[in-house]
Amino acid sequence: MTQDELKQAVAHAALDYVVEGEIVGVGTGSTANFFIDALAAIKDRIRGAVASSEATAARLRSHGIAVFDLNDIDTMPVYVDGADEITAQGAMIKGGGAALTREKIVASVAERFVCIADGSKLVTRLGAFPLPIEVIPMGHAVVARRLAALGGTPRLRMKDGAPLITDNGCMIIDLFGLQIAEPALLEQQINDIVGVVTNGLFARHGANVCLLGTAEGVRTLTF
Ligand code: A5P
Repeated sequence: MTQDELKQAVAHAALDYVVEGEIVGVGTGSTANFFIDALAAIKDRIRGAVASSEATAARLRSHGIAVFDLNDIDTMPVYVDGADEITAQGAMIKGGGAALTREKIVASVAERFVCIADGSKLVTRLGAFPLPIEVIPMGHAVVARRLAALGGTPRLRMKDGAPLITDNGCMIIDLFGLQIAEPALLEQQINDIVGVVTNGLFARHGANVCLLGTAEGVRTLTF
């Protein structure tokens, strides 16, 4: 099976976690896009969705799925999203698509985080994938120096020759070369740096379920 077929398989499997008549939180990225396309088939059985990025909102709307403002929602049963890396304990690195802050906010409102990922995302230790950190633009160099002091190599994410700007008007620093032994601790340490909006470690509140696409079928990990 190709990587896209594995992503499609887990995206379809995630439909079993969608609660009829309710709102579903929807992540960002290529795996989340497959989930949105699958969700379209059952759109009449849900109230609508909350999106974790402008791109996800646009894709949901293109399928005729109602997109709700998070500020109008108290809670939702489930949030479905991909990951760049996930451990067997459910801790993740996210933010390869630069949507980490909105993803973390929407996920915080959901009762359950269902991670959908192809098998290549399962790791024994987080950090081979550079850790994305969203920062306030006027302080990005200060934050980069503080991040370097933690042991990684920071690099400002660029797009078309200029710093990438997120949906929140901020920038992304990718931190390379980490070997993350204690993800929850590092998540807190980085968030404590003034100028950081949030970082792509989802460890203090990780996944509750991971649907992992493998050649043998979809494996379900629960945490
Ligand atoms: C988006 O900002 C990310 O958190 C994505 O969830 C993550 O990068 C996984 O993306 P893919 O599903 O495209 O691998």
